[in-house]
Amino acid sequence: MTTPTTVDTTPFPDQKPGTSGLRKKVPVFRQPNYVENFVQAIFDTLPDKAGATLVLGGDGRFLNREVVQKTLRLAAGNGFGRVLVGRGGLLSTPAASCVIRKSRAIGGIVLSASHNPGGPDGDFGIKFNAANGGPAPETVTNAIFERAKALTRYSLVEAPDLDLDTLGETRLGAMTVAVIDPVADYAELMRTLIDFDAVSRLFASGFRMRFDAMSAVTGPYATAILEGMLGAPAGTVVNAIPKEDFGGHHPDPNPVHCHDLFDLMQGPDAPDFGAASDGDGDRNMIVAPGLFVTPSDSLALLAAHAHRAPGYAGGLAGIARSMPTSRAADRVAAALGIKAYETPTGWKFFGNLLDAGLITLCGEESAGTGSNHVREKDGLWAVLLWLNILAATGERADALVRAHWRTHGRDYYARHDYEEVESDAANGLMAALREKLAGLPGTRLGDLTVSTADEFAYRDPVDGSLTERQGIRISFAEDARVVFRLSGTGTAGATLRVYLERYEADPARLDRPVAEVLAPVVAAARAIAEIEPRTGRAEPSVVT
Ligand code: G6P
Ligand code: ZN
Repeated sequence: MTTPTTVDTTPFPDQKPGTSGLRKKVPVFRQPNYVENFVQAIFDTLPDKAGATLVLGGDGRFLNREVVQKTLRLAAGNGFGRVLVGRGGLLSTPAASCVIRKSRAIGGIVLSASHNPGGPDGDFGIKFNAANGGPAPETVTNAIFERAKALTRYSLVEAPDLDLDTLGETRLGAMTVAVIDPVADYAELMRTLIDFDAVSRLFASGFRMRFDAMSAVTGPYATAILEGMLGAPAGTVVNAIPKEDFGGHHPDPNPVHCHDLFDLMQGPDAPDFGAASDGDGDRNMIVAPGLFVTPSDSLALLAAHAHRAPGYAGGLAGIARSMPTSRAADRVAAALGIKAYETPTGWKFFGNLLDAGLITLCGEESAGTGSNHVREKDGLWAVLLWLNILAATGERADALVRAHWRTHGRDYYARHDYEEVESDAANGLMAALREKLAGLPGTRLGDLTVSTADEFAYRDPVDGSLTERQGIRISFAEDARVVFRLSGTGTAGATLRVYLERYEADPARLDRPVAEVLAPVVAAARAIAEIEPRTGRAEPSVVT
């Protein structure tokens, strides 16, 4: 019972990790050996695993507990020395990153499909994070895929399920399993970055907020930190209990999927501040009274005010944003006299910049914001930094955003998603656009004139690696921009994302309806990409 057993298996050809690990429908993961094969493939790419520490946890979705148990048995069969697993099998993605770094683990396995729905018919995912706490780089994920395609055996220690709900250490074969408090290390880290006293005084003064945990993993974190440590009134955190199917909801914090909070914040009973996080706790949504704050604006505002928090009092080394994220953060970087970096979509591209100390803050339009404190985006951290800034300035959140626009101008921004488009049609659209690029400059569309058109490629300034075909960007002389790319995270068909923005510096024109400002950019984008003729879609499925 304590010695490893080797089990014969046949490889699966489809275990290719995407932007954020291997993500598939639950029934795919329930095929016999599917989980075992993939976890073994991960372990086979770790030459130094003997005696090493591994971190393990997930967002609590359907299959989470079962896969935690399987992974523990496989880890014991592969000679790991110790596994740190969050109580109940839970660890938010940023907390996993924190624990990996703090415990000097060889890496971690995070079970999540992020903001995708859960449950027996929902999505599941397995992601490997490296020793720096960040998502494995492409060299590693490619190696995992290659290994998975050739895998014919896995090793495990056969044992009954362990008790995951009691803190403390047990053994599984020769390996130690430590069930840890999933919140403690993370909360301790937050206390070093954020002025908890100032935020406590803010709540004591009657400040009210709502944090919507969307029945996902941030419930326990937000309850412990906001209500427990910072004194926010009980009930500040709603949907606080993680559920296997997220209560049937789509745990993606945006105005569409988190409309209860969004609507509350637009109405007469809006509290002072609204925030939400996603399935695994790395995304965030910020809503001021009467004003949705785009993730792009949130990054820019946090960058402009970060020095007010103890963790960033020394200023920022630099700021990075993914290419489709609006240029608002670049304007702050310019004002601060620090460097701004533009990376491909995907948090992993920030890793080298953070490790090399070139940037302190980074963020993406897809509701991710983070800093050098971990190597994942961090939803609750963003909320706490906002609270720190609100406490330090004494300003209302909406006033703070408007003041930001007055200083830096406003990047009106929207994203249009065309979901579940036929893959061939989507690829055809991108290919046709690519063909057109060279001829576009000078083209006039309505009141806009194309100034530049190219396909984004990224040369990593740290390791020199080149990543190509990362989205098509078209800029207009009128300070507008449109970006086209295909989603890397969908599980059905293809999703075309169209990112639209237009800059406005005139103080008299900062409060216009977003759709109205962007209408000419939308029309130009649809015409250039021939969206309706090629996809049959006259309108996007989701506008955020
Ligand atoms: C995940 C990654 C993010 C990335 C996003 C892009 O959430 O963690 O870093 O921005 O995927 O998703 P997409 O569907 O646009 O490829
Ligand atoms: Zn997520």
